[in-house]
Amino acid sequence: MRSAPFTLLLSAFLCAAGCSDSGDGNGDETTGSGGATGGTTSGGTTSGSGGGATTGSGAGATTGSGAGATTGSGDPTSATSGATSGSGGGATTGSGTGGEGTGGSDGTGGGASARVPAASASTLREAGEKANPPLLIGAAISGGGLGNNDYKRVASTEHNYVTAENEMKWDSLEPSAGNFSWGSADNIVNWARQNNMKVKGHTLVWHSQLPNWMSSMTGKANVEAAMRRHITQVMGHFKDRLDHWDVVNEAVQTDSDTGVGNPRMRPTVFYNQIGQNYIDLAFQIAREQDPKAKLYYNDYSIDARNDKVEFVYNMIKGMVDRGVPIDGVGFQMHIGPPNNEATGADVAANFKRFTDLGLEVLISEMDINRCGGVVTADEQLAYYHDIVAACFKEPKCTAITFWGINDGRSWLNSWSGALCNGQSSQSLLFNDQYGKKETYNRVMNALLGK
Ligand code: G3I
Repeated sequence: MRSAPFTLLLSAFLCAAGCSDSGDGNGDETTGSGGATGGTTSGGTTSGSGGGATTGSGAGATTGSGAGATTGSGDPTSATSGATSGSGGGATTGSGTGGEGTGGSDGTGGGASARVPAASASTLREAGEKANPPLLIGAAISGGGLGNNDYKRVASTEHNYVTAENEMKWDSLEPSAGNFSWGSADNIVNWARQNNMKVKGHTLVWHSQLPNWMSSMTGKANVEAAMRRHITQVMGHFKDRLDHWDVVNEAVQTDSDTGVGNPRMRPTVFYNQIGQNYIDLAFQIAREQDPKAKLYYNDYSIDARNDKVEFVYNMIKGMVDRGVPIDGVGFQMHIGPPNNEATGADVAANFKRFTDLGLEVLISEMDINRCGGVVTADEQLAYYHDIVAACFKEPKCTAITFWGINDGRSWLNSWSGALCNGQSSQSLLFNDQYGKKETYNRVMNALLGK
């Protein structure tokens, strides 16, 4: 496992700049520490539904003043997305004062201070659905995979959220300018809906898997118009079927894929021709196209506390401050070569900073690569448990998506940067025969609060 002194120094710096500790009386701990007497009886209710609307917060009932605590009305000033998306809410900004309350244990999204696990579950999907607030359990699905019955069975039994692994990327949907090709994406979306699974559109604006006609385009007006057409057409086509979108993907780079060194905007055709404003613009176009959709920024190697997540945090904070319509941030969570390695504590600390902006967080592409001997088997199990637990414990972490169904089909096996050289990355929850691995058990434990 990599663990550089640099990282430790950086962590120390970050904590000086605002890491939370346990119980500072500000009502922002997940267990709630405020409230004088009524915490457990009325500080939390059982039926919250986002935006801090009906749930109590950890601040407790009688004296807690955490936004959303006693009035259950959320805090519009500090939960920027609470009003429209139900994901903000007051709990994290509460200022509970007093004794023993532990309320706010329920609710979906805003206002809840902790997620309550299911008493039992026989699938990951069931564990996510029975948790309160619920948590979407996702997988990257490929058109090729849907040709295999075992794949389909595991995918639909264990998950209720789908990301198309490649079929909704620009080169697949708009291979030539203005000519759209929906077939493979429609197949995945329709299969998901037949199995009562939600779908997240992935991904509208990304430098990779971009056709040459687009990546070589010049002129601000041309690129803006092409980006607008793509977002509008794609979201329009799926409008009645999808309400979650990765709007901008991987806009930031560092010298190393691990998120360390010289963080900066990635010089894509969008950035080079439009300027940094392309990100705000993409979200604004997406919002115009669908006022109710959840709109996400998605990136890798922002899971650990490193240079890249600092840069991305400042970028996203700027967007929130400017009123750009963003609802959340996807932490891809590709752990092991070629990406970063993040402990559960790192992930929890990062989640807190972003949720404090009023945003949702998601684990959007999780896998843990064992190739190259960088991550041991025991480390992999600990990562799976602790990182999933970090999401589970954060009510504003709304989804965990695994990047594939089984080891045999992982993208890592054949990509040189992953150091697998054609061998299995052993990175997922199911083996080549679609059997459950110990990684599955550790994830299930985390989803059951164990
Ligand atoms: O479809 C062609 C096929 O016609 C051709 O014969 C074959 C030969 O190599 O390539 C096929 O395309 C491949 C495609 O996956 C579909 O299998 C591409 O070469 C290959 O590069 C592509 O890789 C995908 C990668 O994104 C591209 O960047 C992976 O499957 C996919 O898992 C991966 O997903 C990304 C997320 O979208 C964003 N975050 C990182 C993540 C991992 O890289």
